[in-house]
Amino acid sequence: MAVSGTISDGNDPVRKAEGWTLLGHIIARRSTPPRHLTAPGPTDDEIQLLVRAASRAPDHQRLRPFRFLVINADERETLADVFEAAERELDPSIGGERLERAREKAHHAPVLLAVISRLQESDEVPEIEQRASAGAALGYVVLAADLLGYGAMAVSGRKVATAAMRHAFRLANNEELLCFVGLGTPRKVKGAPPEPAPELLQIWHPDAEPPI
Ligand SMILES: Cc1cc2nc3c(=O)[nH]c(=O)nc-3n(C[C@H](O)[C@H](O)[C@H](O)COP(=O)(O)O)c2cc1C
Repeated sequence: MAVSGTISDGNDPVRKAEGWTLLGHIIARRSTPPRHLTAPGPTDDEIQLLVRAASRAPDHQRLRPFRFLVINADERETLADVFEAAERELDPSIGGERLERAREKAHHAPVLLAVISRLQESDEVPEIEQRASAGAALGYVVLAADLLGYGAMAVSGRKVATAAMRHAFRLANNEELLCFVGLGTPRKVKGAPPEPAPELLQIWHPDAEPPI
């Protein structure tokens, strides 16, 4: 799927109209829980596009402190085993319905991506910036999916930090499993998102107290 670049020109009315439309989509975006996502999900070409969008996330010195893994349909049962092992690690007494629910999550959403944060050695770019970059990349994937007409949601849970998950995803010492992103077609359309809190944007003043 070819996507051409465009030269930014703030005075170009066509570009501006397109921008308003896209911004409208971004502002109205809602997450859809993976259990409410059904087929079709993004195609392989579309997944490439989502990751291409992620690659445009702000990234100081272009360290690329993140990567993505696609979990194919034929690996979902193996993923369910990993989820089970992770839950057992967190609570050795777990069983019954809770375990079944944990396993089921591996089968939700037609397309599932794992988002991995990878901190790079750098004297100039601290960890917080690299983690922010991985978060931005995740945001771009979710937004890009929405723009292609799909539902998406980042999900994690305590299990992502378990040894079972680290082993299953062969994470290196500098890596963490940030979350999964479920992608697909929402079963139902959600309403408008809430308005942002007023303290989200304030004018800086040296004597101002932080918002409560
Ligand atoms: C890294 C990350 C992990 C998340 N994990 C979960 C999760 O496990 N469960 C959950 O309900 N929401 C989780 N969220 C939040 C949802 O993805 C979503 O942003 C939230 O439900 C708000 O919904 P909205 O996008 O419709 O406003 C996570 C968000 C991020 C950025």
